[in-house]
Amino acid sequence: MTDESRALLRERAAGVLHGNDAGGWTRASPHLYPHQWSWDSAFIAIGWAHLDVGRALFELEQLFAAQWPSGLVPHIVFRAGDGEPYFPGPQWWDATRLAAPGLPVQTTGICQPPVHALAVRRIWELTPPPRRPEIRPRIQALYPKLVKWHRYLATQRDPEGSGLVTTFHPWEGTDNSPRWDRALARIEVARPGPYTRLDASQLGDPSQRPTDWDYDRYLWLVGQLRKYCYDDAEIYRRYPFLIKDVFFSAILAAANAALLDLAGVAGAGDGDLAEVSRWRERGHAGLAGRIDPESGLCTDYDVRTGEPIRLRTFAGFAPLFARSADAGDVAAQLRLLDSGDFCGDPRLRWRLLPSTSPAEPAFEPRNYWRGPVWPIISWLLWDALIALGHPGRAEDLRRDALAQIAAPGEFAEYFEPFTGKPLGSPQQSWTAAVVLDWLASDGREAAPPRAGR
Ligand code: SER
Repeated sequence: MTDESRALLRERAAGVLHGNDAGGWTRASPHLYPHQWSWDSAFIAIGWAHLDVGRALFELEQLFAAQWPSGLVPHIVFRAGDGEPYFPGPQWWDATRLAAPGLPVQTTGICQPPVHALAVRRIWELTPPPRRPEIRPRIQALYPKLVKWHRYLATQRDPEGSGLVTTFHPWEGTDNSPRWDRALARIEVARPGPYTRLDASQLGDPSQRPTDWDYDRYLWLVGQLRKYCYDDAEIYRRYPFLIKDVFFSAILAAANAALLDLAGVAGAGDGDLAEVSRWRERGHAGLAGRIDPESGLCTDYDVRTGEPIRLRTFAGFAPLFARSADAGDVAAQLRLLDSGDFCGDPRLRWRLLPSTSPAEPAFEPRNYWRGPVWPIISWLLWDALIALGHPGRAEDLRRDALAQIAAPGEFAEYFEPFTGKPLGSPQQSWTAAVVLDWLASDGREAAPPRAGR
C-alpha cells in the first residue's frame, strides 16, 4: 500500500468511529447493532486510543458502569434508547430487573469473550508520556473491575475449576458457529413465542445471517435464562446448553496475562496478582488438556453430554490465542495454521484464518461464523503471534488483513474467504478500530512493546 492509500484508509477508519460515536460510547455498527456491545467496545477502545486515549478509556468505563454485582459484564448495554430498532431488545431479557436491579441501564444477561484487559494494556502502551499522569488513575480505577470480571468467569463459569469457561448461549461469542450445532439440535424447542427478526431484513441478504432454526433456539434459551433469573448455580443445575468454550477460555488466559502486565501501572495488590496468576496457569493447563491428539486442534466440549466437539474451526487454535508457553504445542499449531485445512487452502483470497475450515462439511463461505474471515479474529491472532515471538508470520498476517479491507475499501463485519467480498454490516466499528491499530503498527512485530510502568 502506498503512503497515500494508507493515510486515506486511516482517515476513513477514523471516520467510521466518529460516525458511530454516540457520545461516550460507540455503536457497534450504525443500523444492525445500534447499542454498546461488550467485546466490540474493547476493540473500539483500541481504535480510539489512536485518536484520543482519554476517549478510549471512557468507552470501557461506560461499559463497566453496567457491570453486574456478580462481576458479569453484559454482552449488550442497551444505550441507544427505544427509538433504535434492535431485536431482541431489553424486554426479551428483563435482566436488569431480575438480576441487577441497581443498574442505571438495561442490559442482556449473558457475556462475551473478555478482551477488555488486552485493550487496557494496548491503551496504556499507546498513551504518550505527557498523558500518563491523567490516564494512570483511571486504569487504577478500572483494574479491580477487570479482576472482578475475570473472577466471575474463573469461578461462576467454571465451578469445576477446570481452567475452561462454560458458555451459556451462542451469543456469548460466535453465534452460529457449527461448534454449537449438536448441542442446539438436542434441544426440543418449545416455541419461543411470536417474534420478528430485524437482522436479516436489515442486511437484505438472509444467507449471511443465522437461520430461523437458530433463532428459535437462541430465543428459547433466553427464556430459560430468564426463568432461572440469570442465577449461575441454578443454570448449571438445570439449563440444557453448557459448553466449555476453548476460544473464550483462551481469551481469558491471555487477558489474565495482560492484567499481570498492568500490575505495576495499576498498583495491584499481591492477593490479586496471586489469584490472577493462578487463573492464568489453570487456563493454560485446561487448554493443553483439550488438544485432540489426532487432529492437533483444541476441542470444546458439551458439559451436559461430556462429548468433545471435534470440528475444524478457528477455535481449534485456542492455545495460540492463549499464547501457550509450550513450545511444542505452539510449533504444532503453527504448522496446522498454514496447512491446507486452514490458511494454506489455495482457494483463499488472502492467507487469513477462516472462522470455519473450508474442509469442514458445515462450511458456508458467506454465513456469519460458518466460514467468513473476521478481522477481529485476525487481530487477536496477530497480537498472539507477536507475543509468541513469530514476527514474520505476524507481519504477513497484518499485511493480508489490511489488504482484505483496503481492496473493497469497506469496514465490513466479515469477509468471504475465497472472493474477499465484504459481508455483514458495513461501517462496523471494531473493523475500523483494528485497521487503525494495524496501520500504526509498522515494526511492532519485531519489538513488541511492554506495558511498563
Ligand atoms: N451477534 C448477535 C446479533 O446478531 C447478538 O450479539 O445480534
